[in-house]
Amino acid sequence: MGPVDLTDRVERSTRMDRPIQAVAKAVRRRIGPGRLRDLLHGVPLGKPLHPPLANASVGFWAAAAVLDVIRSDPRAIRALLASGIATAAPAAAAGITDWSVLHREQQRVGFVHAIANLTALGLYTGSLALRFAGDERRGRLLSFAGLGAASLGGYLGGHLAYRQAAGANHAESVGHLVPLGWHDLCEISDLPDGRPVTRRLGYIDLFVLRVGDGVTVLADNCSHLAGPLHQGRLISEEGTACVVCPWHGSTFRLSDGTVAHGPATAPQPSFETRVRRDGVLQVRPALT
Ligand code: FES
Repeated sequence: MGPVDLTDRVERSTRMDRPIQAVAKAVRRRIGPGRLRDLLHGVPLGKPLHPPLANASVGFWAAAAVLDVIRSDPRAIRALLASGIATAAPAAAAGITDWSVLHREQQRVGFVHAIANLTALGLYTGSLALRFAGDERRGRLLSFAGLGAASLGGYLGGHLAYRQAAGANHAESVGHLVPLGWHDLCEISDLPDGRPVTRRLGYIDLFVLRVGDGVTVLADNCSHLAGPLHQGRLISEEGTACVVCPWHGSTFRLSDGTVAHGPATAPQPSFETRVRRDGVLQVRPALT
């Protein structure tokens, strides 16, 4: 059985579901909607914050391992270990915030990923303490054990990001699936006033909202994890009309699909609209 089969088993295992549910709920309650949560998700960056911070930690620790192997300056190694530990804290905060709003299968893998990384953090902290106490030999051993745990964490993080598509933009394909130019969508008279509905254009579902004579059209599958936006709530956020995804609360501005609040970090593809004389609503992808 290979590592992917083992990870697939973790995805399907229900054994840890109770603690996972409890921790995810506590995280969501603790880090409620607002600026801090948006920052931890990476909304201001336009992409998740956790991966670059985690990469920084692992990079510092990997560099320390190389210096350990060649028996380099102990002060340089301590500085690298301390830098990895310092960046691990915000990386963990960002990661657990993202994790708290994932699908159950993703949370199972993410839970083991977090345990592996916390083990690495503990081992590196112990290693640094031993080195400061003058025990370089045992400090080195703990560091190598920490690198093993961090490598396992990294492997599971890759599985989560690439195979399970946590953190990916789930609306990215829209621009590739809609041919250039204007497309007939539906009769304008078929659209209810003030209530979003979904309409299909070729291979993709669209969120369509008519308010009076104005029509807003966005991709319907949320960029976070593909939730159905047409089932979401309409709200006004600082005077701007927005839609809130029904799955995890990502909030998109109706005017252009940009993100007002995460967990989504990528904007929702939006469409220009026009109505033909015979009442047919036409759409084309908005230029960004
Ligand atoms: S699918 Fe998660 S917020 Fe939309």
